[in-house]
Amino acid sequence: MLIKRPSDILPSEITPEGIYRRRREFIKAAGLLGAGLAAGVSGTHAQAQAGGAKITGFGKSKFSTDEKQNAYKDVTTYNNYYEFGTDKSDPAENSKRFKPRPWTVVVEGEVKKPRTFGIDDLMKLPQEQRVYRMRCVEAWSMVIPWIGFEFNQIAKLVEPTSKAKFVEFVTALQPETMPGVRLPVLDWPYVEGLRIDEAMNPLTLMAVGIYDEVLPSQNGAPIRLVVPWKYGFKSAKSIVRIRFVEKQPKVAWEKAASQEYGFYSNVNPDVDHPRWSQKTEKRLPSFFANHKTQMFNGYAEQVASLYTGMDLKKLY
Ligand code: MTE
Repeated sequence: MLIKRPSDILPSEITPEGIYRRRREFIKAAGLLGAGLAAGVSGTHAQAQAGGAKITGFGKSKFSTDEKQNAYKDVTTYNNYYEFGTDKSDPAENSKRFKPRPWTVVVEGEVKKPRTFGIDDLMKLPQEQRVYRMRCVEAWSMVIPWIGFEFNQIAKLVEPTSKAKFVEFVTALQPETMPGVRLPVLDWPYVEGLRIDEAMNPLTLMAVGIYDEVLPSQNGAPIRLVVPWKYGFKSAKSIVRIRFVEKQPKVAWEKAASQEYGFYSNVNPDVDHPRWSQKTEKRLPSFFANHKTQMFNGYAEQVASLYTGMDLKKLY
């Protein structure tokens, strides 16, 4: 995964080499990212990005951590959303033309009642605020108050069949508003997946807001997945399609570099990334590794039983 690192480490050392080279060649040949940036600013969307509408009437959750929450500014200006560029500041800068409304989410595959939900229907499901620790594979973390509903509420409405073993999440591909997709950094659209029991776990959230506001584009508007015991890249942003499937889906980072990013990607301090340790993390905005990483990101009590008998070093 591309990451911002201390200045003494070259990007070529931290990026899977093929991806790094493809990206450099593309930027050099086309200069396209710059062109995309210049086209991106508009007052209306800047306002939506700054927080947009307030969400009211959400409940509190027993699953919330009482750790100190990150500032709104940290959460909305330091993001990974490669469709808008690979630097942490790119998503906030380059998502101003993104259109999170109108929006539909198609739910299909191994279900008895396939359905297309409008975003406003999904907003009507009972919402809850969940303050979760989020751990990125790049060894930084934040504490974020999400607003959302448990994924299992969607499943109840569509009734998965007994063949549904996995859930695939397909995210938006809007080339006209996403300058990053002109670069072949990943195989667009960004796709993620969970085993069905992981998806149905009460911790797995579909988030529609942060703090008390609708999600800004850079955080995955209008609806995204949040899976707090897994590295951040499993939490797919701006979901347009959810498929219940029989076979394990091919997911974005596994396709890009399977020796580095596995399907499960559970937070695990005992399994190093091939190029760095996962034992500690820096809790932003700190520059230093000031936290010990916990097994399953501290959510072992709720999720460890999902992995009984599995070799988590092999199935990373
Ligand atoms: N979803 C899409 N569609 N595209 C992305 O590039 N990046 C992932 C994940 N979801 C990504 C995505 C990664 S690597 C992380 S760490 C989290 O989003 C970051 O979410 P945040 O910016 O809200 O902290």
